[in-house]
Amino acid sequence: MAFYGSAKGASFEDQIRLLHTAEVKGSEEYYVLIAQAREHGLNDLADAMQANANEDAAHGGRYASMLGEGVSAEDAIWDRARAFWQAEASARPALQSIADKVRAAGRDDIADAIEDTIPEEEGHAKRLEAVFKAHGKTLK
Ligand SMILES: [Fe+2]
Ligand SMILES: [Fe+2]
Repeated sequence: MAFYGSAKGASFEDQIRLLHTAEVKGSEEYYVLIAQAREHGLNDLADAMQANANEDAAHGGRYASMLGEGVSAEDAIWDRARAFWQAEASARPALQSIADKVRAAGRDDIADAIEDTIPEEEGHAKRLEAVFKAHGKTLK
């Protein structure tokens, strides 16, 4: 049985909603704390929290799907992934212009942190590209 939409209108919908909120909020709060732990050099704590946050985010996604968020048809999933690819692949100019603005305001450190994300965003696009290619799917 597919999970998609299965909790919508069910007698346990409220419980799934509670789980969804707890997982999504929890993972978001983890990610904030991870950034702060790294600033203090607490990399082992940050790594442990990052592993937990990744799993909690995935739990939240599964509950969201049960609640009917997102899409179910395979073609629609590829379409959503394509939109993500487009955003990732075109992120550089927008990020660079924000970094430039921050640098002009005198915060080289923040500008550097933003610029550090640019190759990662391009890596996200490349990761998706490889899967599209493996499935013989076009990106546009
Ligand atoms: Fe969890
Ligand atoms: Fe990304």
